[in-house]
Amino acid sequence: MTAQFPVARPRRLRRTPALRRMVAETRLSPAELVLPMFVKEGITEPQPIASMPGVVQHTRDSLRKAAHEAVEAGVGGLILFGIPAVKDGAGSGADDPAGIVQLALRDLSADLGDATVVMTDLCLDEYTDHGHCGVLTGAGEIDNDATLERYASIAVAQAAAGSAVIGPSGMMDGQVGAIREALDGAGYQDVSILGYSVKYASAYYGPFREAAECAPQFGDRSTHQQDPANADESLREVFLDLDEGADMVMVKPAGAYLDIVRRVRDAVDVPVVAYQVSGEYAMVEAAAERGWIDRERTIHESLVSMRRAGADIILTYWATEVARAL
Ligand code: PBG
Repeated sequence: MTAQFPVARPRRLRRTPALRRMVAETRLSPAELVLPMFVKEGITEPQPIASMPGVVQHTRDSLRKAAHEAVEAGVGGLILFGIPAVKDGAGSGADDPAGIVQLALRDLSADLGDATVVMTDLCLDEYTDHGHCGVLTGAGEIDNDATLERYASIAVAQAAAGSAVIGPSGMMDGQVGAIREALDGAGYQDVSILGYSVKYASAYYGPFREAAECAPQFGDRSTHQQDPANADESLREVFLDLDEGADMVMVKPAGAYLDIVRRVRDAVDVPVVAYQVSGEYAMVEAAAERGWIDRERTIHESLVSMRRAGADIILTYWATEVARAL
């Protein structure tokens, strides 16, 4: 071995924190983080969610306070999920102008104005008594096209209440087009659509079903959400949504699907959003609680990895905490 060996020494650039900071290829900043928030009708105190320690179902008041804190920390946006006091077959609470999300949207517009981006998830599962993402046929199957009519009406209700970005998450065929047409027809041309374009039928949504009280009462979501075995299909979903008018596209879950985030990032020229879902949150919190992993480092690494894979924006339940730490 000669004295010159090895010729290349990559460790040189890893020697000090300052060097590592200077050569970092990926950066994380608060503006890319979006906080998902749950607001429940008819409660007077925030309700903890057992499988998501640190996350709550908010009252209207506690939502306002937490939204303020998030904005103060510099997060890029908030996305609201509503849980109505009463559920029915059609999910009537979803497009009721006095429904919980519409009331919360008005609160937040009044409080925050344009200081942040207030977005809404658009789906029926939190609002239906059967817990499915659409309305059902007599035979108990999800009626795609009848569901689109409901989605169109919900989109207009959310836009009227002040949502700036609407994120349809129900995986019905044609949902982005139906919503775009309804928004345009009602004069909401400027309201954006975030397509939950790539949404897998995932076990990682487990804790969310407790948070949003939306576990299906029978069957599951695999007739409309994607099979985790498939990757090419994700590009098909993305291009359909872009054709129908999506302004941004999402991949969900994030952590187990970083290959898909990269493929989508390479294929499109709109912002790519990754959703670090409830199960990803719960796994880290549970392992950290047992002292098995370093909580803060794991959270940071998970988010940097999503950025490295190509996500421009990340939905994460840790948004406020991480924004503060940055
Ligand atoms: C559907 C919806 C779900 C999530 C976001 N929107 C649940 C589902 O599809 O079953 C999951 C988010 C998470 O797990 O954090 N309204």
